[in-house]
Amino acid sequence: MKGIILAGGEGTRLRPLTLVTNKHLLPVYDKPMIIHPLETLKSLGIKDICIVTGGEYMADFMRFLGSGKNFGVNFTYKIQDGPLGIAHALLQAEDFAKGEKKIAVILGDNIFEKIELENDFDENDNNAIIFLKEVEHPERFGVAVFDSNGKLIEIEEKPKVPKSKFAVTGFYIYPTDVFDFIKTLKPSARGELEITDVNNWYLKQGRLKYIVVKGFWSDAGTFPTLLRANLLVGIKRLIEGKMEQWLFS
Ligand code: DAU
Repeated sequence: MKGIILAGGEGTRLRPLTLVTNKHLLPVYDKPMIIHPLETLKSLGIKDICIVTGGEYMADFMRFLGSGKNFGVNFTYKIQDGPLGIAHALLQAEDFAKGEKKIAVILGDNIFEKIELENDFDENDNNAIIFLKEVEHPERFGVAVFDSNGKLIEIEEKPKVPKSKFAVTGFYIYPTDVFDFIKTLKPSARGELEITDVNNWYLKQGRLKYIVVKGFWSDAGTFPTLLRANLLVGIKRLIEGKMEQWLFS
C-alpha cells in the first residue's frame, strides 16, 4: 500500500509561526512535525509516500525531505493550489495512487503513538477504514454517531453538541474509488471539500469500518495542541530513555 501525507492548508491558528514557515515544518519535540506522520506510515511498512502541500513552501519540504533516501522511503510531491480542504488535497494524489487498490492517508499535523491495523485487514476488499479516539472535547473534530445498538451511523463535522466522545482522527484508509467520489463533492459552508463527506459516503454504502486507536493521539494545529504534541513525544522519548541524559545529568 502507498501512503499520502496531507500537508497543505494555511495554518491560520498557528500564526505568527506559520508566517515564517509551513505548519508541518514546525518542531514537535525533536523533529519537524511532518516526520511524525511519516514515521506512522513507515511503521506500517509503507515506503512509497506522496507529500501534498501548497506551492509556497514546497521548496522547503523538498530541501528537507529530498528523494526520501535518507528516510528509507521514496517521496513524490504534489502541489495543492490553495487551501480548499482535506478531500481536495487528497485529490491531488490521484495519479500517484493509479494502479493501487487502497491508499493510506494521514494528516500532516496528526501525531500518533502507534497505528495498528486489524489482522483481517484486506487490501483487496472495497471498504474504507477510519480511526477513532475517545477525547474530552470532541466538538473540535469529526465526531462518530452511534445508534442504540452501538452501530456507527454518521460522522458529524465539528458538531456544537457532539453525540459521542469518539473523534475521527486524521488517519484513513480508502479504496482508490475515493478519487471519483471527491470529484463529485461540492464545497462546504467554509468553502472546503470535506473529508467527513467522503467518510459519510462510504458509511451510507455500508463500506466504512472503524478501529479505535490505542496509545496517544493529538493534532498539532493550535497552540495548546502543538504544546501537547511536543509533551507527548517528549515524554515518549523520556520513557525510551533518550531524554534522561539531558534531564538528569
Ligand atoms: O485532526 C483530525 C481532524 O482533522 C478531523 O477530526 C476532522 O474531521 C477534519 O476535518 C480535520 O479537522 P481540522 O479542522 O483540524 O483540519 P485542518 O483544517 O486543521 O487540517 C488538518 C490537516 O489537513 C492540515 O494539517 C493539512 C491538511 N490540509 C488541510 C486543508 C484545509 C491540507 O492538506 N489542505 C487543506 O486545504
